[in-house]
Amino acid sequence: SKHLTHTKDLSKNEIVTIFKYAKEFLDEKKRDDLRGKLIINIFFENSTRTRSSFEIAAKRLSADVVNLDVNRSSTAKGETLFDTAANLDAMGPDTIIVRHNRSGVPKILSKYVKCSIINAGDGAHQHPTQGLLDLFTLLQKFKTLEGKTIAIVGDIRNSRVANSDIELFTRFGANVILVGPPQFLPKTTLPTTYNLKEAINHSDAIISLRTQTERHKTPTFASLKDYAENFKITKEVIKDKDILIMHPGPVHRNIDIDDEVLEDERCLVLNQVKNGVAVRMGILKFLIEN
Ligand code: CP
Repeated sequence: SKHLTHTKDLSKNEIVTIFKYAKEFLDEKKRDDLRGKLIINIFFENSTRTRSSFEIAAKRLSADVVNLDVNRSSTAKGETLFDTAANLDAMGPDTIIVRHNRSGVPKILSKYVKCSIINAGDGAHQHPTQGLLDLFTLLQKFKTLEGKTIAIVGDIRNSRVANSDIELFTRFGANVILVGPPQFLPKTTLPTTYNLKEAINHSDAIISLRTQTERHKTPTFASLKDYAENFKITKEVIKDKDILIMHPGPVHRNIDIDDEVLEDERCLVLNQVKNGVAVRMGILKFLIEN
């Protein structure tokens, strides 16, 4: 089976095909493409968007969906992750969608099962379907990323979304600037800055990120307010510049982005969520039919 554990699992042509499907699926109509197919969602970490988005995507394509409740599963009785996956695979799903707090889990599981594995986020490593829906959202507005500059702002070192976004955006021709305090910046060959205003002056779009305190080994700020003082996206920093504001969610309101900016027409947070269903429909159709 074909898997999606990393953005690099898909070629540019394959992504273009998925986006062609996704554009059709934006009409939110129910279709028959995956009738008779079985999709299992297994999320070992919390999720609002990704899990419901995959379930809705599968149902809009008429697939059957099983959501395994991890807290009530036999993992709690000591069953290993691999046995859990092998047992689910034995029930004949076409795809298992997995989220886990450890990097690399989806890739390892892909070697143990016959069905395709989709990574719905693994530790601080990858969130390929979020990267794809972010790319799709940018391409809806810009047509091409060639010559565009995108600033990624915040806790980049702990962000699987940033890793997926960076790989895809640069592959599609964008310049990427990383913006954050030193403790949030990864080792990178990309340009970095601590100066949000300066980055915004040079950028066509901003991806703001949530500070992921749950992944921090040592506290990085006295409080999120200290982060907000320098890195919150406010009307005052974006002024009336022609710039797009995105965030994968969940947003820390008035820490990552001001209420006012969340309501601004340049803010695409809910467009990302709407596009997420269509892009995941495209991904499911592409992986299952190939
Ligand atoms: N963007 C994202 O992955 O959100 P959830 O954690 O709610 O799925």
